[in-house]
Amino acid sequence: MTTPEPARPITPRDGSPTPTPGSAPLRVAVLGRGSIGSVLIDRLAAGAVEGAVLSAVIGRPGQAAGNTVPTGPGTPARVAVPIVEPADGIAAADVVVECASVAAARELGPDVIAAGRTLLLASIGALNDADAARRLTAGPGRLVLTTGAIGGLDVLAAHRQAGGLREVTITSTKKATSLVQPWMDADRRAALEQATAPVTAFEGTAAEVIDLFPRSANVAVAVGLVVGDPQAVTVRMVADPDATRTTHRISAISDAGAFCCTAENEPSPDNPASSALVPYAMLAALASLARPSGRFA
Ligand SMILES: NC(=O)c1ccc[n+]([C@@H]2O[C@H](COP(=O)([O-])OP(=O)(O)OC[C@H]3O[C@@H](n4cnc5c(N)ncnc54)[C@H](O)[C@@H]3O)[C@@H](O)[C@H]2O)c1
Repeated sequence: MTTPEPARPITPRDGSPTPTPGSAPLRVAVLGRGSIGSVLIDRLAAGAVEGAVLSAVIGRPGQAAGNTVPTGPGTPARVAVPIVEPADGIAAADVVVECASVAAARELGPDVIAAGRTLLLASIGALNDADAARRLTAGPGRLVLTTGAIGGLDVLAAHRQAGGLREVTITSTKKATSLVQPWMDADRRAALEQATAPVTAFEGTAAEVIDLFPRSANVAVAVGLVVGDPQAVTVRMVADPDATRTTHRISAISDAGAFCCTAENEPSPDNPASSALVPYAMLAALASLARPSGRFA
């Protein structure tokens, strides 16, 4: 196992020290090599984020075996990213980007935080478990949440500050095949798969939805975190036979006014349950961590 180097301080949003031009690049390790991770790996290897370098891909424990990841077109031929054991990947990184699963985030995320690294999380549903949430936010590392497939969370947070926040809803509409779950009985599956018009597959709160739709409800948990009470967020999951895009519509009212934000996302070509936008939201978050102050993008 590699001896851990101390993580570089990378807390530009919390105050000093702030990355300055010419400072060493952020070392980024990617956990999860699916629809999100493969785009992240290729884009990072191609130098898409100024001030950040891909240091490793974290494999499943016992499966790293010294392999490397072939990166895609547009990346320099010399790039050969090592696949490493979780502990080695954490030791060699300033930021670990989790894009694996809620289970992996709960299992490995606390080690990243305990090692003083920054964890950029896609599987935000991991925070719906109280013990995992406590360990993921215990420090000394910092937990950063991606905006993922949605937007407007900054405005929603402002409405929370304004007071009187109410009627917070998120309606996610997808193709039925992305909402069918292993726990559904045959009748319920058929109702979704054979629907000729939109069907509500779930209506409840952000506290309940992640266990039922673990791959589709990270956005609902994110809205619950912004609101500060997942029970106060009404979540609808709609299966639409005619949907070509995945749509997330967030709405709320506060003493400062009304808010509505709709994201219409192309599905990932590799995983129809995942939005193609997500890896780019994570790259934007990395750019934010890596850049000097005073810029949006
Ligand atoms: N926050 C959001 O808006 C948002 C949006 C889409 C997806 N997500 C979440 O992001 C995560 C990744 O999504 P995806 O579409 O890339 O999924 P995916 O299924 O395409 O890829 C996940 C990859 O992670 C790997 N993996 C799982 N556990 C691992 C472990 N312990 N160690 C190493 N690798 C592991 C899998 O083998 C797979 O290759 C999922 O949890 C998904 O729910 C979040």
